[in-house]
Amino acid sequence: MKSEELAKLNEEMLKCQKCVLRSTCSQVVPGEGPADAEILFIGEGPGQKEDEQGRPFVGAAGKFLEEMLGHIGMTREDVYIANVVKCRPPGNRDPLPEEAEACWPWLLSQINLIHPKIIITLGRHSLERFLPAQKISLVHGKALRRNHPEIGTYVFYALYHPAAALYNGSMREVLIKDFRRIPKVLAAMNNSNGGDDKKVIQEENQEISSDKKQDSLFKI
Ligand code: URA
Repeated sequence: MKSEELAKLNEEMLKCQKCVLRSTCSQVVPGEGPADAEILFIGEGPGQKEDEQGRPFVGAAGKFLEEMLGHIGMTREDVYIANVVKCRPPGNRDPLPEEAEACWPWLLSQINLIHPKIIITLGRHSLERFLPAQKISLVHGKALRRNHPEIGTYVFYALYHPAAALYNGSMREVLIKDFRRIPKVLAAMNNSNGGDDKKVIQEENQEISSDKKQDSLFKI
C-alpha cells in the first residue's frame, strides 16, 4: 500500500544524516498528506515552527497557505505538503546547493510514490530544483508540462512563496490570483479535448511559445 510505503519512507528520512542541517535542527520534517494526493506542494524548508512541531507549513506561511486552499474549497488534508530540504537551515537561511542536493533523493522518492497530478512549487528554490532555467517572475501562475529525467512527465505550477508574499501587497495579490487558478489548471488537465478547457490550453500555449527560454516546455 502506498500509504505504508510513504510511512516507511518517512521513517527512513527521520534517520537521515546526509548533510550538516541535521546537526543544527531539532527534528526532520518529512512532509504530510494523503498518499493519493493529486496536488503536491513543495516549499523550501522547515522554519522554526515546523522544526518545533515536525510538520510542514505550520507557521504564518502555513496559515496563509491554508487560507488560500480555503479559497479553492480545499483543506491541507486534501493535499501533500513537502519541502526541498527536510531539516531547518539555521536562522532560516536559504538551503545551500549541497544541502538541497543531499535531500533530493528523498523528494524524488516522495514524488515517485505519491505520483501527484500536479507539482506546485512554492518559491524560487523549489522551482529551481525542477526547472532550473526558469525565473519565477516569468513562470509563476503558468502550468508547464515537462519531462523530468528523474521523475518522468509532470505538470509543474510555480507559485511565489507564501512567506515572501505574506507582507508584500502586490506579490500577495499575484499569489492569491495564481492560486485561484489551480482548479482551472486541474480541469484543463482532466479534460484536454473539451470546449472551454481547450481554450485555456490554447491561450496558455500562445503565452509559453512567446518566451524563447521555455522552448523545452509545454504549457497547459
Ligand atoms: N516555509 C517552507 O518553505 N516550508 C515550510 O514547511 C514552512 C515554511
